[in-house]
Amino acid sequence: MKTLTYAFWGCIAILAASLCKVMARLDDTRYITAYTGLNSTGAHYHFTGYVPDLSEMQMNDSISSACGTGIWILYDGMNYSSNPTGYFCSTPAVSKCWNYKDVCQKGSSLRYAGSPYGLNDDYYNLYEDNDFHGKEFKGNTNAADLGDLDQAVSSLIVIGQSAWTFYSGQDFTGVSVCVYTNATVTNADIELDFIILMDMLGLPDNSIRSVARGCLGELVAGAEPAVPGPRLN
Ligand SMILES: *[C@@H]1O[C@H](CO)[C@@H](O)[C@H](O)[C@H]1NC(C)=O
Ligand SMILES: *[C@@H]1O[C@H](CO)[C@@H](O)[C@H](O)[C@H]1NC(C)=O
Ligand SMILES: *[C@@H]1O[C@H](CO)[C@@H](O)[C@H](O)[C@H]1NC(C)=O
Ligand SMILES: *[C@@H]1O[C@H](CO)[C@@H](O)[C@H](O)[C@H]1NC(C)=O
Repeated sequence: MKTLTYAFWGCIAILAASLCKVMARLDDTRYITAYTGLNSTGAHYHFTGYVPDLSEMQMNDSISSACGTGIWILYDGMNYSSNPTGYFCSTPAVSKCWNYKDVCQKGSSLRYAGSPYGLNDDYYNLYEDNDFHGKEFKGNTNAADLGDLDQAVSSLIVIGQSAWTFYSGQDFTGVSVCVYTNATVTNADIELDFIILMDMLGLPDNSIRSVARGCLGELVAGAEPAVPGPRLN
């Protein structure tokens, strides 16, 4: 994990403000600041965790733009569970600002994918419904069964540098698919590696029943490293 503080040392009064800005280091703290207007204008609210009901912050149906770090997903219903819009209302980002598409400006709940700790820690999020809606099963360790989401996973996000193997049977049995991250956003030296999978990679929908760290499957999704290196578990 990177240092969490901005380094303003050296920014003494005689230096121009812009120089101080250059010297400030980015950090990898996950956050989203959501705005009611486009281009980061209007009323705003700073979030660092899951928000099942944006109306508690007077932000229901009113988020138009945001700045943030992480993979934050905006849902058009409360509790992450309304009808999928067919759009993935998220912008994986490291210290970046963006406007939401019209269809995404109806957010009623908000949550992030990934570890609650380090931004790029190895982690998986499995979702009950398409487009990352519904209940979640998430973690950073092997799981011989998926609890409530047994045979109920329809989409998933993997973050970090480890591959994960998903099995059609409990206890790491059955058909398996191994998933590597295949996309990266970076800013300065902060990196976020991820793969966003709207479907189950050739496994039938609702067929995943266990997950193990590492690439142990025959089928591979994502970007398998050309040379076995640090990306391999
Ligand atoms: C947002 O910024 C863009 C680019 O600077 C500009 O063209 C647009 O008019 C702005 N929109 C609003 C609503 O401020
Ligand atoms: C959020 O806004 C939508 C659309 O206006 C509305 O249907 C819903 O009831 C609102 N939710 C809350 C909790 O106010
Ligand atoms: C959201 O979840 C809360 C807490 O479980 C529950 O009280 C509420 O009825 C749910 N609302 C909707 C619209 O699903
Ligand atoms: C990552 O892999 C998935 C599944 O094969 C694919 O749908 C997606 O387009 C890939 N993304 C990138 C950025 O290559």
